[in-house]
Amino acid sequence: MLSKEQNELLCRIGPGTSMGQAIRQVWVPAVRSSNLEVDGAPQRVRVLGQDFVAFRDTNGRVGFLDEACPHRGVSLALGRNEECGLRCIFHGWKMNVDGQVVEVPSEPAGSNLASKVRVNNYKVHEAGGLVWVYLGKEEEAPQFPDFGFENLPPENVLVRKSIVHCNWVGLVEGLLDSSHVTSLHTAWLPHGDAAMTGPNAGMMGALSVQYEIHDRPYGYMANAKRKLKDGTYVNRKSEYVLPFFCLIPSTVKNLYNVNIVMPIDDEHTDFWLINWDPTGPLTAAAVDQVLNLGQLSTNADNLYEDRVAADGRWGQDRELMARDPHSVGFKSLPIEDLAVTESQGAIADRSKEHLGASDIAIIRMRRALLEMVRVYQETGVLPIYNQPIDYTNIRPVHELLDKNGDKIHFEVVLKA
Ligand SMILES: [Fe+2]
Repeated sequence: MLSKEQNELLCRIGPGTSMGQAIRQVWVPAVRSSNLEVDGAPQRVRVLGQDFVAFRDTNGRVGFLDEACPHRGVSLALGRNEECGLRCIFHGWKMNVDGQVVEVPSEPAGSNLASKVRVNNYKVHEAGGLVWVYLGKEEEAPQFPDFGFENLPPENVLVRKSIVHCNWVGLVEGLLDSSHVTSLHTAWLPHGDAAMTGPNAGMMGALSVQYEIHDRPYGYMANAKRKLKDGTYVNRKSEYVLPFFCLIPSTVKNLYNVNIVMPIDDEHTDFWLINWDPTGPLTAAAVDQVLNLGQLSTNADNLYEDRVAADGRWGQDRELMARDPHSVGFKSLPIEDLAVTESQGAIADRSKEHLGASDIAIIRMRRALLEMVRVYQETGVLPIYNQPIDYTNIRPVHELLDKNGDKIHFEVVLKA
């Protein structure tokens, strides 16, 4: 349980908020690289409660600027992208990728107004098919978080996004809360003879979850231990990288993931999923088949495009629920997560909860976030960057141990 004040501190990310200031020290995914063509249409991008415009200029450089024209506040996303700059359609003012105003045709000849005006621009980095942006002070930009996808051929990396209508913290909690998997998601877990196979082997035989949290310089590793009736242990070791990167375990060979919970504003969230296979091309069909992520929209920029809204109870099918005791009535696993998360409210009220031992991972996550903010407010430095992070070696693990503690080896192989 948190106080109302702590919950506000945790959740609110707009400009000027404490959490917002801390998160602005982190590289964040903003827009797909392929959406920005040379001299093509600029894109509106809303992140962390602020509106921006992204464009690729004549030389291929990406500009990431405040959306409002510094002249009279018109959206620069409406502008012309031409000859190394973005020209506002209102009075023709032109800005380059560095945020400098380079032409003010509405002013008298000889005016030096252009040289005195600029629009805020932000540092960008292209990796994994995405434009990432750093909203903090340029000279303080940290190391880029390459979890292993950055230098792969584009066909080895699969980037998809879902748009969720609630605050970001609930989504991070859902990713780190392993204990819900064996209640909410039982329809998709291996049962009966198949119980000890597949990416989530052993989960359905578990009695309850015991957490072990191991602090890391970047966050923590949470091992959700489940003891099965025959004495076998299932360990699910998730990795949490502050503030919103979550790496989820499975047993699929060569398939890696990072989930990034990117706040659009306080009540909307971009939920990015990056999968990669360092050994070869990766398709959405192969990933979805093995991880039960199917039955969603094929729009890679919003997998929840066809979703049912909250007032239609997220499409819950009570007949399916009655027919199948393992089903909670939704057509896919991600929709189960969507329904429970959004049903907690646009910003969940954490002052009314009753938490138990199965909630330790989220308790520690909240504590780590609040501590991150406290240290940032005191020192101006995000504590996770006090030392270099070897992102490529942060790996979640799903393992089975027999009753002697010996590993039971198996891997699921992706089908092309
Ligand atoms: Fe879930």
